[in-house]
Amino acid sequence: MARITLHEFVSAHNAELGQPFAEVMDVLESFAKTIQAKVQRNGLIEESGDSGGTNVYGENVQKLDAFADGALTNALLACPAIHAVGSEELETPKLSGNGTGIYTLTHDPVDGSSNIDTNLPIGTIFGLYPKADSVLQKGNTLVASGYILYGPSMLLFYAVNGTVNGFTFDPDRETFVLSYENVRIGEKKYYAINEGNWELFFEEEQKYLTTIKTSGDFTARYVGSMVGDIHRTLLKGGIFIYPADKKHESGKLRLLYEVAPLSFLIIQAGGDATSGVINPLELTPVKHDQRVPIAMGTKVLVEQYRSFSPKGGK
Ligand code: AHG
Ligand code: MN
Ligand code: MN
Repeated sequence: MARITLHEFVSAHNAELGQPFAEVMDVLESFAKTIQAKVQRNGLIEESGDSGGTNVYGENVQKLDAFADGALTNALLACPAIHAVGSEELETPKLSGNGTGIYTLTHDPVDGSSNIDTNLPIGTIFGLYPKADSVLQKGNTLVASGYILYGPSMLLFYAVNGTVNGFTFDPDRETFVLSYENVRIGEKKYYAINEGNWELFFEEEQKYLTTIKTSGDFTARYVGSMVGDIHRTLLKGGIFIYPADKKHESGKLRLLYEVAPLSFLIIQAGGDATSGVINPLELTPVKHDQRVPIAMGTKVLVEQYRSFSPKGGK
């Protein structure tokens, strides 16, 4: 019997969330196919290389970042279920103005942009919140979150109602089909951190890293695309860290577009997350481009990390 498709799964298992949730998931599936069609032609498409522009973080915007941001933001704004859209590539959120929207969606349209040109895994991250006066909502209010991973296969994983399910894009059926049901975080001890920043790390971070490295229990893995690193952490286990450091008092990763959605997913899969001293889902963002330090992974490894009192940043 053919495996259940994403669309069928959402209708059958998330029926209590009704048509609006199904509409959002349809938009994400359609967007994933658009981006997959581009990345499969890496080197041949016009959306290759640097756009020449910079975003609100002062980072170079790749042509694919700009294309993906426009494609996803516009598709969401045209979706009746959507009230507002916030994106890593937008200075301020956009309102749909449709009057029917019940959700705000935040996204990182292309995560891991530095890997685009070298054909390494990249992703898309999304967080779905109830409509509110502001996009600046705590992660604890998330209804659902997830990611699309453009790798050897294209995958879509999402968390809702305490469960995480994963879908693989089947090119024959031209749709996502269920491939990872009710995912629980693995138990292996992989650690992922950019150790090139060693000299910038605070003493607490250095002590922690020295401890786990000398334990002989850990293996290092670092993709440099958060979606890729979190996907491995989810399936295999481990810990992913992007800490505050002497130059970056709040680390690098963005609360609304990266940290909250992926922390929510990892926690729903039985893992844990910390921004130094606080659960990132309890942080109310004070600005759209807020960065926070983050460590997430298995409960045991996050607890061990916490015991070294890493700096939470500002
Ligand atoms: P983005 O491509 O959306 O700007 O995100 C890049 C992020 C994240 O994907 C990754 O974990 C991290 O930046 C890597 O940063 P370093 O290159 O500093 O390790
Ligand atoms: Mn990113
Ligand atoms: Mn990005």
